[in-house]
Amino acid sequence: MKHGLYNLAKPVLFSMDPERSHQWVMRLARWLPFLARQPQIQRPVKVFGITFPNPIGLAAGFDKNAEHLQVLSKMGFGSIEVGSVTPLPQDGNPKPRLQRLTDQEALINRMGLNNIGIDQVVRNLRNRPTNLILGASFTKNTATRFDQAIEDYRVCLERLYPVTDYLVADVSCPNTGELEASSNLEFLEALSASLKTMQRQLHIKQDRYVPLLLKLSSDWDQVILEPLTQILIRHSIDGVICGNTSHGLSGRPLFPKALALVKTMGQLLAGRIPIIGVGGISTRLDLLSMQEAGAELFQIYTALVYRGPQVVSELLGPNLTVSRHPPFVAG
Ligand SMILES: Cc1cc2nc3c(=O)[nH]c(=O)nc-3n(C[C@H](O)[C@H](O)[C@H](O)COP(=O)(O)O)c2cc1C
Repeated sequence: MKHGLYNLAKPVLFSMDPERSHQWVMRLARWLPFLARQPQIQRPVKVFGITFPNPIGLAAGFDKNAEHLQVLSKMGFGSIEVGSVTPLPQDGNPKPRLQRLTDQEALINRMGLNNIGIDQVVRNLRNRPTNLILGASFTKNTATRFDQAIEDYRVCLERLYPVTDYLVADVSCPNTGELEASSNLEFLEALSASLKTMQRQLHIKQDRYVPLLLKLSSDWDQVILEPLTQILIRHSIDGVICGNTSHGLSGRPLFPKALALVKTMGQLLAGRIPIIGVGGISTRLDLLSMQEAGAELFQIYTALVYRGPQVVSELLGPNLTVSRHPPFVAG
């Protein structure tokens, strides 16, 4: 929806339950797609072998089931990440499970990874718009025992590989009660090894390389991040997304934590693995701070809810590329 229109519609949308209003907005945008359309600003950036038209992506969770790609692909994003998807469909937590903290431009979600399952998501992705960089995030079913988790990730990786441009193993979902277990370094090592082996096999078989990223938790500290960095490098993980919500919290209050995570990972990785910065990005200054801390790409979710689709061009700002012929300054 255009900026002015979005601001007009916001009081009505914000008077509804947040999950319902999300469904309504997407339905409205599907019926009247011109309301959501934004120009795509070209600021090409090449990261892990992919040229993104601009560095701002839509974060995972907004279109979990890949049901709204026609509309979302017209909103000016440089990429869209669907998911997180699990092998089997699951309902997630009982409603209500999404709450607005309007004065802080924040959300608290306890969705519990509701999604329609890998079969249906892959079916939806077969008709995906092709003029779009598309990532897909995947994880285990909540009911899957932790010692069986790697198999769930493998099922999703294999199915998503042919229909996506990059893949994300989500090991940081904070609201399925298993975050501590998934930050277990032994698990992360075994998962990285297993998924990278599968990716190599699929690369050869399908003659197409799809980068594999890990999405980290903004609640992990140096004690986990330092050894994790060694794991990421050892297994040639293609990129990291820093990071997920903190105990379900997203939006502006998350920014300091997300920035700290990007800074730490920026220092530990020292340019060896690209970083996608995500968490509370809402202004151009936020984005520039993330960039200075080491992020090459950025994603947003909550800022889209509070600011509307115009936020993408606001974040990109004027093109500050230095002129090849700077004006002559006398003196
Ligand atoms: C309602 C909701 C659902 C989300 N679902 C997922 C998900 O399924 N998988 C995932 O990796 N991240 C999920 N996220 C996290 C976002 O991708 C992002 O990391 C987080 O919201 C921080 O960015 P933001 O402050 O710009 O919203 C979800 C966030 C929200 C608000």
